[in-house]
Amino acid sequence: MGFPKGFMWGGATAANQYEGGYDEGGRGLSTQDVRTAGSRTRKRTVTYTDSSGVHKEATRFEPMGKGSKGILEDGRYYPSHQAVDFYHRCKEDIALFAEMGFRCFRMSVSWTRLYPDGTEAEPNEEGIRFYRDVFTELKRYGIEPLVTLNHFDLPLYLANEKGGWTDRDTVGHFERFCRTCFTCFKGLVKYWKTFNEINCMLDWNKLGIVTDDPNEFHQALYHVFLASARAVIAGHEADPDNRIGMMIAYGAVYPLNCDPDTYLNNLLSLHNIQWYCDVQCRGYYPAYKLKEFEREGIRLDIREEDAEILKRGTVDFIGFSYYFSSVSKAGVSVAMTGDQGKDVPNPYLEKNEWGWQIDPVGLRSVCNELYDRYQLPLWIVENGYGGIDEPVWSEADGKRTCVIHDPYRVDYLRKHIQQIEKAIRIDGIDILGYTPWGCIDLISAGTGEMRKRYGFIYVDKDDEGNGTLDRYRKDSFFWYQKVCESNGEIL
Ligand code: BG6
Repeated sequence: MGFPKGFMWGGATAANQYEGGYDEGGRGLSTQDVRTAGSRTRKRTVTYTDSSGVHKEATRFEPMGKGSKGILEDGRYYPSHQAVDFYHRCKEDIALFAEMGFRCFRMSVSWTRLYPDGTEAEPNEEGIRFYRDVFTELKRYGIEPLVTLNHFDLPLYLANEKGGWTDRDTVGHFERFCRTCFTCFKGLVKYWKTFNEINCMLDWNKLGIVTDDPNEFHQALYHVFLASARAVIAGHEADPDNRIGMMIAYGAVYPLNCDPDTYLNNLLSLHNIQWYCDVQCRGYYPAYKLKEFEREGIRLDIREEDAEILKRGTVDFIGFSYYFSSVSKAGVSVAMTGDQGKDVPNPYLEKNEWGWQIDPVGLRSVCNELYDRYQLPLWIVENGYGGIDEPVWSEADGKRTCVIHDPYRVDYLRKHIQQIEKAIRIDGIDILGYTPWGCIDLISAGTGEMRKRYGFIYVDKDDEGNGTLDRYRKDSFFWYQKVCESNGEIL
């Protein structure tokens, strides 16, 4: 078998979808806290007031307009507020992860739990205590934390009052938050990632941008790249043992046919995704992107010291999520947004209920693509099957319990793991670990639902927020336990 000794088997989560406790322990509001629930057919929205104070809602890609501010509305259900309550159930969950044999656990630190507004000079001690306890508990079981410093959250204050990432000061605020993490969790955390799915930071929730002006978008993103580089530099200074990666949503992109123009179009459309890696792995904007800026009249506000920061702040490894593949066609740009409804269908592949095209072989292809291009270790930090589970309820010893048969999840994961094994054994790729997404059921980022479940552990909660939050082991729990125990030999 190809899996090396010490391969990091585990699972992945993010604070805004998992943690809850949104107004406890001194935590401040984040942009994710004003996002409503949605569904496959009804998009999630942000509740906000426009510049005249009129209450409105906008979906992920709708510009809100200057002067807009995210707000909470009475009587609305906001899924991040409780999420699935890791805040109060962390010990129980970690014990379950340990029972499955996790060697690592991916989670994110909520920025506003440490800095409620994002701007404070000193961090919130209660927030630090919470995460320190979590990391200590993980270590007690020999589970290595893999920490995402930013998983789609931005302090609401920074978004509403300062323009979020359009404001260069946000870079300094983020660096202060990261330095706090590196100092306070030194010796407990070694593996970090800066920004989750940096290529999916297109909207107000993540960037704080209220218009669809491409210049504003690229300026904000430029600040995110700088912030990532400054975080990497700070992390290495704090502890030379720290390993700090980037994180991108990646997927295989196939040309529609062998027409040379189609092939070229495919190659160029890959640049839409690759340029994010180019900046973070090579330390500068690639020539094709600068040319595009020239053509589009995009001018960035760049300072003299920035080039050096980007160069010094390159990452140690590439973390990526892989869920589906796409087909490119001239005139249709491919972006890994998860909104596959608009994509060109691939006749060779099946889809899940949310339209995501399932493609295990594509995972091996992208491992080759990324490793050939950057020669950096890879970490598949998200992958998984989001589907509808049907628990079978019964009473045992006076207690309500359930079993969940989820062969579709096992089938999906098994086929992807087989491809990872080949990428290691046959292609010689350095892959550090595999942390399937939503190892415990949590809120869907795209739709805000609970019914799109990825977990090995079932959480009793529905789309309206009702349920006991009790945890139950699915069939896949016992399957993954064997995978971890056998280091991938028993699939
Ligand atoms: C990635 C994100 O986009 O995919 C996660 O990093 C997200 O936050 C995951 O949950 C799956 O997407 P969804 O929309 O099914 O939750």
